[in-house]
Amino acid sequence: MRTSKYIALLLGCALLGGCDEGKIYPSESDGTGAGYNVVMTGDLKGSAEYGSGYSLVLAVFEEGDDFAEISKGVEVGSGETELSNVTVTQGTVELCVVNTLRKRVLTLATMQVNDQAGGETLRFDVGDVDVSAFGIIADRIFATTCLQCHGGTSHAAAGLDLNREKAWAMLVNVPSNVVEGMMRVAPDEPRRSTLWEAVATDASAGWSFNHSNLLPSEQSGFIEKWIEKGAEK
Ligand code: HEC
Repeated sequence: MRTSKYIALLLGCALLGGCDEGKIYPSESDGTGAGYNVVMTGDLKGSAEYGSGYSLVLAVFEEGDDFAEISKGVEVGSGETELSNVTVTQGTVELCVVNTLRKRVLTLATMQVNDQAGGETLRFDVGDVDVSAFGIIADRIFATTCLQCHGGTSHAAAGLDLNREKAWAMLVNVPSNVVEGMMRVAPDEPRRSTLWEAVATDASAGWSFNHSNLLPSEQSGFIEKWIEKGAEK
């Protein structure tokens, strides 16, 4: 009785162990494991001081995942950034802004990874990238989501043109055309700014166009932080 139980237990262990045989699970920080390396080059311009909660990183995302599997802070300028021992075989390598949970906020450059083999070095050149908070907001948010009404080809809703060259002067310290007593952007004071009201609250439900669902909360939070930090150009 006792012996057969013991044998069953032994057999079970052997079988379970057998399933994992041949696989290697290197730890993330171990630079000598079975993963591959990523070396990013490029010329990153502007300040990447976005305020607490947001950072500029080189990161790798598993296909379909919004949270970085592995990431490393990036310095502005033209130095190299290296990630070693990456084990994601299907996904993307990105220069991006993430929040404290390592969730993707905005992508500045991206490269696909397909069946990447271990031991190799992937080169990721991102070219010239404006990484400043306002540059990111203008190039990655206004340009994709707002220009169809605010600028672009024909007219600018509420007289607000959000094209890159004009947006800052049209927003910062300019009284609102829509809400009396508010500014479009009051530096340091998101709550006195219609830009913040538009993208981060439901207030615009009462305007002639409801903006409240235009942006994911990670991005409206990034705009809020930019205003809070002084709305620099
Ligand atoms: C479908 C058209 C449309 C889109 C897209 C749109 N807006 Fe607007 N926006 C408007 C209209 C219309 C108004 C004026 C509302 C009113 O007068 O009641 C307005 C007003 C505003 C105001 C207030 C301006 C002021 O003088 O206080 C801000 C700020 C603003 N929009 C920002 C944005 C941002 C940022 C985006 C993109 C994330 C965006 N809008 C996308 C139509 C749009």
